Amino acid sequence: MSPNAKIEAAALLLQRIQDEFSPASFASSLGAEDMVLTDLIAKHAPAIGIFSLDTGRLNPETYDLLARAQETYGQTVTFRVFYPQTEDIQRYVDSNGINAFYQSVEFRKSCCSVRKVEPLKRALAGQAAWITGMRRQQAVTRANMEIQEFDEAHSLQKFNPLAEWTINEVWEYIHANAVPYNALHDQHYPSIGCAPCTRSIALGEDVRAGRWWWEDEAGRECGLHVKK
Ligand code: ADX
Ligand code: SF4
Repeated sequence: MSPNAKIEAAALLLQRIQDEFSPASFASSLGAEDMVLTDLIAKHAPAIGIFSLDTGRLNPETYDLLARAQETYGQTVTFRVFYPQTEDIQRYVDSNGINAFYQSVEFRKSCCSVRKVEPLKRALAGQAAWITGMRRQQAVTRANMEIQEFDEAHSLQKFNPLAEWTINEVWEYIHANAVPYNALHDQHYPSIGCAPCTRSIALGEDVRAGRWWWEDEAGRECGLHVKK
């Protein structure tokens, strides 16, 4: 499919989601793919709500982009931010320490669980469908992902409209449409999560090599996208 055909297909899919699954929400991590989807939603399906999960550990550049995204798109689409439960964070940090995620995969997953997975559950409550910015080429764990799938973990339809897009197509869209993006992308951060769990990558390294780099590649997912 040509890049233009992919843009058209994504726009049509978003319109279909808007019409057939109400209410539907798009989970934006504010990554490059997610900014493309934000722009497409604002232009073609503005009844779809957008939310970001603020883990409390994001980079300053990501907060800058969150503010710019709200300025640029906030008039057209609903843009909400969800936060972890204070008591959960308090308990986690009291028992394990503020940076326990470096100690073991178990501690890392429980941090993601408190800071992302539980807030995601609240963000998705009452929704008929949710949308992500995931692409097949991003990771071995995403290679077989469908554009539309049933998310058993949340009992909800899940859409990945950019599943078939290449990274070049993402950036062509961003530049052609003057879409705001995270300044860290210009500093060799292709994939951005929380500050302590993301680093820049070297030339030739995998795009997700900077995410939870101290762990084995196969397990490097945060728990937002688990398959039963
Ligand atoms: S992940 O491993 O953190 O899940 P990635 O950063 O590649 O991976 O994000 C994949 C998709 O998960 C994003 O396109 C977005 O839909 C959703 N997502 C990830 N982090 C967040 C976040 N902080 N807030 C909202 N959605 C998120
Ligand atoms: Fe915690 Fe790191 Fe997961 Fe962020 S990415 S929630 S800091 S373990």
